[in-house]
Amino acid sequence: MMFSNIVILTGAGISAESGLQTFRASDGLWEGHRVEDVATPEAFARNPALVHQFYDARRERLGEVEPNAAHVALARLDAEWPGELLIVTQNVDDLHERAGAQRLLHMHGELTSGWCLGCNARFGWSEAMGEAAQCPACETVGRVRPDIVWFGEMPYQMERIEAALMDADLFVSIGTSGAVYPAAGFVQTAAYCGAHTLEINLEPSQGSMFFAERRCGLAGEEVPKWVGEVLGYSDHSSPISL
Ligand code: OAD
Repeated sequence: MMFSNIVILTGAGISAESGLQTFRASDGLWEGHRVEDVATPEAFARNPALVHQFYDARRERLGEVEPNAAHVALARLDAEWPGELLIVTQNVDDLHERAGAQRLLHMHGELTSGWCLGCNARFGWSEAMGEAAQCPACETVGRVRPDIVWFGEMPYQMERIEAALMDADLFVSIGTSGAVYPAAGFVQTAAYCGAHTLEINLEPSQGSMFFAERRCGLAGEEVPKWVGEVLGYSDHSSPISL
């Protein structure tokens, strides 16, 4: 099969070996919290202090972790792949960009970004946010929230993602449980539009049956292996054949 346009979807599993917890642990909690207490607009309206505390802790944690071999391999693929490539991550950490990835999009927002509900500005944010955060654009205090897509909100850049999926001839999903839409449906869109589909995950995901090819294992091992295969076959000037 010939391909040159690659779309890669990543989830929490790709950052697990860096030391960041995945979302769906066996106890069903996110770092000890129920989803509806920390990841919905209603939770933020009800208890902004708790929501800020939750995301401030996760933002602080970024300073203690490093990209792993899977992030580094994808950054290398991004740098060396001559065709179209888009990494769509559901992760709100910054490990893909710290590894060097550039053709990257955060569909669920970023811990290192703030959003002012007063003036609608978005801006980089690296410290604790808290309820007393001041918007650097309009200077209003108390209306800045984490720039994270919560349950019930629309993921970012869906038009761009859908266009890339329709053009893709290879779709690869890495470290995601396939439990959250719309990301869980990307494999079907890509396959319907003619792409070869590959899942790399520790275990078969909920949507595993939609993939043409599956590789089970640690992202830190399987992703560098796969990237090596892809770049090894490429002559860097024309679409490759698998
Ligand atoms: P999940 O926690 O649901 O799934 C992580 C997946 O990674 C699981 O299928 C694990 O088996 C797999 N996994 C764990 N460690 C791995 C490793 N070392 N190598 C490979 N795979 C590994 O996380 P997501 O699918 O990313 O959304 O969750 C999707 C969305 O749910 C998140 O973006 C978040 C949450 O709601 C928002 O915050 C909007």
